[in-house]
Amino acid sequence: MAVDLLLGLQWGDEGKGKIVDVLTKDYDIIARFQGGPNAGHTLEFDGIKHVLRTIPSGIFHKKAINVIGNGVVIDPVVFIKELEGLDQFNIDYKAKLIISRKAHLILPTHRLLDAASEASKGKAKIGSTLKGIGPTYMDKTGRNGIRVGDLELDSWKEKYRNLADKHEAMIKFYNVDVQYDLEEMEVEFFEAIKLLKELTFIDSEEYLNQAIKEGKTILAEGAQGSLLDIDFGTYPFVTSSNTTAAGACTGLGIAPNKVKEVYGIFKAYTTRVGSGPFPTELFDEVASNMAKVGHEFGAVTGRPRRCGWLDLVALKYACQVNGVTQLNMMKGDVLSGFGSLKVCTSYNYKGKAISHLPYNIEPENVTPIYTEFPCWKEDLTKMTSPSQFPKELNEYIDFLEKELEIPIKIVSVGPDRKQTINR
Ligand code: GDP
Ligand code: IMO
Ligand code: MG
Repeated sequence: MAVDLLLGLQWGDEGKGKIVDVLTKDYDIIARFQGGPNAGHTLEFDGIKHVLRTIPSGIFHKKAINVIGNGVVIDPVVFIKELEGLDQFNIDYKAKLIISRKAHLILPTHRLLDAASEASKGKAKIGSTLKGIGPTYMDKTGRNGIRVGDLELDSWKEKYRNLADKHEAMIKFYNVDVQYDLEEMEVEFFEAIKLLKELTFIDSEEYLNQAIKEGKTILAEGAQGSLLDIDFGTYPFVTSSNTTAAGACTGLGIAPNKVKEVYGIFKAYTTRVGSGPFPTELFDEVASNMAKVGHEFGAVTGRPRRCGWLDLVALKYACQVNGVTQLNMMKGDVLSGFGSLKVCTSYNYKGKAISHLPYNIEPENVTPIYTEFPCWKEDLTKMTSPSQFPKELNEYIDFLEKELEIPIKIVSVGPDRKQTINR
């Protein structure tokens, strides 16, 4: 069988966690392929809201095996807290959650380096989640990282000490005020490692390819979004991994010809947390309504998310880079009663209308050109079938499908698992 991918097409927080949870019933394995605890994936069912960081969003289902792939970076401290959060729900994670030996570890000093790097940038800071993501991927590509598989070797503590010492020297180099007590952080870290070692470590590329041969179904879960991709996002205001389809191949060890469906997920409007350009960003009452009705606050940091209209130029780009085969539109319910809606269909780029994403999308280079639509007034949150959709919502969906040339197969009308409509 093949592997399907689920990817965010904007700047993250599209609702990936919710849809992975909804789709899990159709899969044997859910596999996270990149990112780490910078992610916050929200799932809601039976009146309870769960936020997952490193653990794949299939964990609440009885049957599915959840794999943390080699492309993921794991902070043992955060990870153990996440596991503890699951305890009250009776989840047999020792049986259902397995971890790639090739996944890299986030050390306490990676978190400190993240803070020092951001502090040194001043106004130009990335707006990182400060979870140590960038420094950990830097050590991975710099060939200095410590991997989960190293924990099975006696020599890992020596390797740890050398790396942590080097990091401390680097923190000094930044010459900024970062207060810390490393000894205290290490007590917590080594305790978490002990618990982490109680889980099963695997050669995940072998495991997944064997599963494919046996006819099992796999859903690869992305974190962040395409516009935060290290290569294709709004660099340098991006994360440090490939969030796009190719990242699933390198982050799990599956070949491109094993990939079948690519689910692309987007909000009916756009949000972004942290710094960086955002052409359709709004600063008026419309933005504050989106934020208020959509509860647009970061699931990890609680920071307010910046809000704006849907950007079709950026969305088309993301669909192209990922080879999206079907779309999921989230949070249309938030826009009910907005009066009119705008969608950015091209950019005015240095005085010329263009319909592709240029190298530079800062406000001084790009002004969005909008198409306006009447907005639906009805409350969508109780709807259960597309036949109940108001005319204006159908017109919006039809327009997007025509522009993107990809079917919108799922329309989400609320945070709950049940508020999901197949078309
Ligand atoms: P992820 O990082 O892509 O998994 O998304 P987040 O969980 O960070 O953010 C999505 C937020 O929107 C969460 O609070 C979800 O509970 C919520 N959500 C998801 N789908 C919908 C929807 O269709 N309507 C509304 N109103 N909320 C939604
Ligand atoms: P999920 O998976 C939204 C953003 C940060 C910052 C930039 C770099 O929940 O969609 P990092 O900590 O990776 O160095 O931060 O990327 N960012 C996210 N924004 N959703 C996420 O994940 C994000 N993960 C990182 O806000 O601008
Ligand atoms: Mg999120």
